[in-house]
Amino acid sequence: MTTSVYACEGATSTQLLEQLATLACHEDEPAWSAKQLAAVCSGSERLMVIEQGGHAVGYMVAAHVLDQADIHTVLVDVNQRGKGLAKLLLQSMMQWLREQGVEQIFLEVRQGNLAAQALYAKQGFEVTGSRNNYYANKDGSKENAIMMMASL
Ligand SMILES: CC(C)(COP(=O)(O)OP(=O)(O)OC[C@H]1O[C@@H](n2cnc3c(N)ncnc32)[C@H](O)[C@@H]1OP(=O)(O)O)[C@@H](O)C(=O)NCCC(=O)NCCS
Repeated sequence: MTTSVYACEGATSTQLLEQLATLACHEDEPAWSAKQLAAVCSGSERLMVIEQGGHAVGYMVAAHVLDQADIHTVLVDVNQRGKGLAKLLLQSMMQWLREQGVEQIFLEVRQGNLAAQALYAKQGFEVTGSRNNYYANKDGSKENAIMMMASL
């Protein structure tokens, strides 16, 4: 099956945005709505999409100012995980950020989200600190954020 990664720039089809908004995510991570994703495409953030066999199965959002960037979210459909798709998205995003002159990338991730932490660590991110009770979970509980950073 063909896998492709591409960045959305400017006007992006409503069909694609709605497809991305319906990707299955069972975690506390809130999936972004089509409206939120449309705002990404028309603003200063970058939306990177990954498709398999012509179907969008994941995305990543990041933003940069001068030589620093933040990763805002990454999601791969729950039925498509463990195939290296997030790794491909992250590597593509890092490459694009490098081309923009970015030297450092920052992000926060739930303390309990070991899959995402492992994804980032394997691409060179290191833990720089934590923020207490940063996230609200669906059950009303709070969760700490782990802060990570990578140098390009
Ligand atoms: C985190 C997430 C994006 C990973 O997507 P994925 O496509 O399954 O990840 P990949 O297959 O590309 O895996 C890349 C690396 O991540 C790590 N990883 C992925 N899933 C893992 C798991 N369940 N447990 C431990 N490590 C895991 C591995 O180190 C893997 O590298 P390896 O294959 O060389 O061992 C996916 O689980 C997801 O969408 N989760 C819900 C949304 C989310 O938590 N987003 C993060 C917000 S910061």
